[in-house]
Amino acid sequence: MNYRHAYHAGSFGDCLKQALLTWLISRLQQKERPICVLDSHAGAGAYDLAGPEAERTGEWQEGIGRLLADPPVALANYVALVRDIMEEPAGVFPGSALLVRRLLRPADRLICCELNPQEYALLKARFAGDRQVAIHYRDGWEAFRGLLPTEPRRGLVLIDPPYEAPGELDRVAEGLGIAYARFPTGVLAAWYPIKHRAPVRAFHESLAAFRLPDVVAAEFYLREPTDPARLNGAGLIVVRPPYEFGPAASAILDALAERLGRGESGGGAALLRVTGG
Ligand SMILES: C[S@@+](CC[C@H](N)C(=O)[O-])C[C@H]1O[C@@H](n2cnc3c(N)ncnc32)[C@H](O)[C@@H]1O
Repeated sequence: MNYRHAYHAGSFGDCLKQALLTWLISRLQQKERPICVLDSHAGAGAYDLAGPEAERTGEWQEGIGRLLADPPVALANYVALVRDIMEEPAGVFPGSALLVRRLLRPADRLICCELNPQEYALLKARFAGDRQVAIHYRDGWEAFRGLLPTEPRRGLVLIDPPYEAPGELDRVAEGLGIAYARFPTGVLAAWYPIKHRAPVRAFHESLAAFRLPDVVAAEFYLREPTDPARLNGAGLIVVRPPYEFGPAASAILDALAERLGRGESGGGAALLRVTGG
């Protein structure tokens, strides 16, 4: 439980996750019926980009910093939402929980699980008194069995673990399998790091073994993922992608590649069909 997302808030990986998440939720909200979002590894909810953690890595400058400076058309809604939140009096960069919260309509709900006591306390304080948000000091992996299906029964599960422990990609595949079975109408999204190609391909293959029939992967690469010691890219698995996710995700990925690319060999983005189609 040493991971603190404040070091990585606003990084290219966050931008990939958040831009796609914004589109997915907006698409689910095209129908009037309310939705529920389960954020199984919710972090602190929001982060201070001027704080010592973000300062130390400077990752946000190569991520959201670049998008704010010159927002691409395909990311306009996402960047505008982040800018609005950052320009408020107590300006913070939204984590997944605050970003989702800002997208909720009055009948929609958000459920967050977090196991780091410090992050949990920050999350709890941020949403104190908010009747649309439930915060649990609870194991996110266990929550798929304990909290799914949600009420309302439409919605999305976001899985965003720290990838500190070995075998976490296997846990994500297993978690997606459980969530898929228990939340038959839910869209599932899981963020993952790309260091080396082989473990990512094995992860994709394991999703077929869990009998997940409709899975795509949106991947962004800073460079050819050949050095397992570096974060060379990031991906978002989406299970049961909504109608038109393909063209929308491709446009988002192209915009990210254009703005956040560093001109290194093998950099770029791709939308991959993992199963079904
Ligand atoms: C990558 S961060 C989440 C970032 C967050 N989704 C965001 O975008 O702001 C992963 C979080 O998962 C938490 N965590 C680790 N293991 C967990 C578990 N088993 N259940 C719930 N949370 C866990 C960590 O404390 C950390 O805050």
